[in-house]
Amino acid sequence: MQLNSNFSQRAVILPADYKFVASPLAGVSRMMLDRAGAEVARATSIVRYDAGSGYSSHTHDGGEEILVLDGVFSDEHGDYPAGSYLRNPPGSSHQPFSENGCTLLVKLWQFAATDTQQLAINTDQQQWRPGLVPGLSVLPLHEHDGVSTALVRWAPDTQFNRHIHVGGEEILVLEGLFCDEYGQYPAGSWIRSPRYSQHTPFTQAEGALIYVKVGHLGAGLLGDKFIQSEQETTP
Ligand SMILES: [Fe+2]
Ligand SMILES: [Fe+2]
Repeated sequence: MQLNSNFSQRAVILPADYKFVASPLAGVSRMMLDRAGAEVARATSIVRYDAGSGYSSHTHDGGEEILVLDGVFSDEHGDYPAGSYLRNPPGSSHQPFSENGCTLLVKLWQFAATDTQQLAINTDQQQWRPGLVPGLSVLPLHEHDGVSTALVRWAPDTQFNRHIHVGGEEILVLEGLFCDEYGQYPAGSWIRSPRYSQHTPFTQAEGALIYVKVGHLGAGLLGDKFIQSEQETTP
């Protein structure tokens, strides 16, 4: 499957577009945001665990990144409430489950081969830093080889500078309403902007909380081998 896997194109998914489909595991469904590959795939998804559901024990050959959006996610190493940020590096394994149900952002096969750091951050207990303009605060989550991931909180009516995403940018809106000159994105919206794209984002009366990753498009991550160009898939 190749879904939003042409990283030279902008991709936007709004919460009204969500269609959850069953995964191979009972009680676990997913809304695919981007995907390159078959059941083993370089994939970005919103994943829902029904109460009492679990996944079989598995190894993350290409690494796994998780942000817990709602509920409590668990594995044999711990319980991770909403706001938890997890990185399970290539070669790691676990058996995840959720006692009362949860919703996750999951990114698979998006690690550099050299990124071996295991992370479990409870973002509710971290110190936020001031951002580049008044009204912004930033909680850095991870940085490796030019790829940076953070949570950014936008106070109401915050105006950011026009900027260029040299290595691309990916945003999941977690709370409020995020805006730029191309649209308005309520909580649940996913926006992936290509390398060298530009925009001028801002917020209105609601403010916003966003997950943002930059520098990862074309960065040579493990799962890039699953990406087929348009030419290769056209008969
Ligand atoms: Fe996993
Ligand atoms: Fe941006």
